[in-house]
Amino acid sequence: MKKLLVPFAVLCLLVSNQKVSAQTEPLISPRPLTLETAKGNLKLSAATKIIVRGLPTEALYLKDKLSVSTGLNIPVTITPKASQNNILLQLDESKSTDFGKEGYELVVNAKGIKIAATDKAGLFYGIQTLIQLISVEKKGRLATVPFVTIKDKPRFSWRAMMLDEGRHFKGEKVVKQLLDDMAMLKMNVFHWHLTDDQGWRIEIKKYPELTRIGSKRKDSQLAWRSDKRSGKPHEGFYTQEQIKEVVRYAAERHITVVPEIEMPGHATAAIAAYPWLGTTGEKVEVPVTFGKFKDTYNVADPKVYTFLEDVLTEVMALFPSKVIHIGGDEVLYDQWKSSPQIQALMVRENLKSPADVQIWFTNKISKFIASKGRRMMGWNEIMGGKVHEFTDEKETIVKEKLDQGTIVHFWRGTTDMITSAASKGYDLVNSYHIYTYLDYDYKEIPIRKAYDFNPIPEGLDPKYDKHVLGLGCQMWSEFIPEVADMQRKIYPRLAAYAEVGWTDLSRKDYTYFKNTMKLIEAHWKTEGVEVAIADYDAQTEETKK
Ligand code: ACM
Repeated sequence: MKKLLVPFAVLCLLVSNQKVSAQTEPLISPRPLTLETAKGNLKLSAATKIIVRGLPTEALYLKDKLSVSTGLNIPVTITPKASQNNILLQLDESKSTDFGKEGYELVVNAKGIKIAATDKAGLFYGIQTLIQLISVEKKGRLATVPFVTIKDKPRFSWRAMMLDEGRHFKGEKVVKQLLDDMAMLKMNVFHWHLTDDQGWRIEIKKYPELTRIGSKRKDSQLAWRSDKRSGKPHEGFYTQEQIKEVVRYAAERHITVVPEIEMPGHATAAIAAYPWLGTTGEKVEVPVTFGKFKDTYNVADPKVYTFLEDVLTEVMALFPSKVIHIGGDEVLYDQWKSSPQIQALMVRENLKSPADVQIWFTNKISKFIASKGRRMMGWNEIMGGKVHEFTDEKETIVKEKLDQGTIVHFWRGTTDMITSAASKGYDLVNSYHIYTYLDYDYKEIPIRKAYDFNPIPEGLDPKYDKHVLGLGCQMWSEFIPEVADMQRKIYPRLAAYAEVGWTDLSRKDYTYFKNTMKLIEAHWKTEGVEVAIADYDAQTEETKK
């Protein structure tokens, strides 16, 4: 990836100038809640200062971004000078009712620039908006910002992107690039899928075989239902030091990293490392093909809980996130059905179906996570119910009740499942696969369809809306070993999902979005990321309606 150092602001000039007339709305992605323009521009020059009290991280972030985009070296100071063209960053607790934690007010007028917020997160988002407003007149000498008053806050508190590195490891540099782009688009959750059948990607000190064996496989299937193989081994994992660095980098950008450690299925790599974790106890290899695998943790064995609690203890020490994701999707029940130990567990605990076993197991893990002051999240199979064609209806009928504090991550099934979960008081994140899977091609999920996704399902009584925390978009990577191919799946759809998460429905406008994307796409190209040449007007039968 070759980096061309053309700043965002210069591109704004080249592509579609932000120096707008008073009536034209400047192009900001995601579109803010309210934006008023006035005639005139403020000049930023070598005399400008960033004025701040006790906010070094955000102020230094702004200073760095301004230096790259405008070429101006704008100092950070705590003593306001008489100069008219300063940028004031102000934490203002009195605004809390208007803005919430992530909202901000940005005012640009003849006196200067002021970003006010009740929390550092809000200031950070105000800074992102400011960066998009700047036009460079003379690099290193002069930049301008149109007069505006913006009051802005997000529609949802959970605006996530997931990266699956279980299937193909990508590494720290790629992750940091994604975090930078998420931050620019005001996304705030990086959901990191770190373990799967085909790879265990996080160092766990107490169980070194997880990475010594579980992070490596001999080959890789190249396409769905294909016999073709890459013919080469694949491996990779993050050391705990690298994880800490990614978490720190994300936190600086107000992004929470939510780790996902899959259980009780999608666990073949772990079982390859420690066969006693599996229901059959048999030795297996890390698979070279993709799909669903039968290897499932032996949830009747107390040693398995010791293992999982040890792993989660190390994970929670690395990730300050309140939420810990335990996967829980696509568990094949075959091994449980033929295991005398699981059958005995079902009798002992009066569990009626394999799905009941899964909920019983999930609740044990949930209680452990809650005992550490955290909150468990899992894919919607953790509620039971018929989510897949491959499960027999009666295997999914449940008597057990999922712990109330759990966050349900909806991805598959009928939308009734979401409305039912929300009306039972569960918080949930909507990642319905047919709208939000970044590995799906642009024919299946054109940009327009991504943009039109509404995380609040039709038919949900508005009194339960608050249980829909937001959305995730998911970059699954079974057949996507190459970074460039992955990026073309992500860019430009990421910006559509960012707007779904941030922008109030009353402010969504596809024409405005398309115009902003000329700037955003140009910026991505300067970063050296691959952007798909995608048809913004392509429709599916659904979006035509
Ligand atoms: C999933 O796509 N298996 C959650």
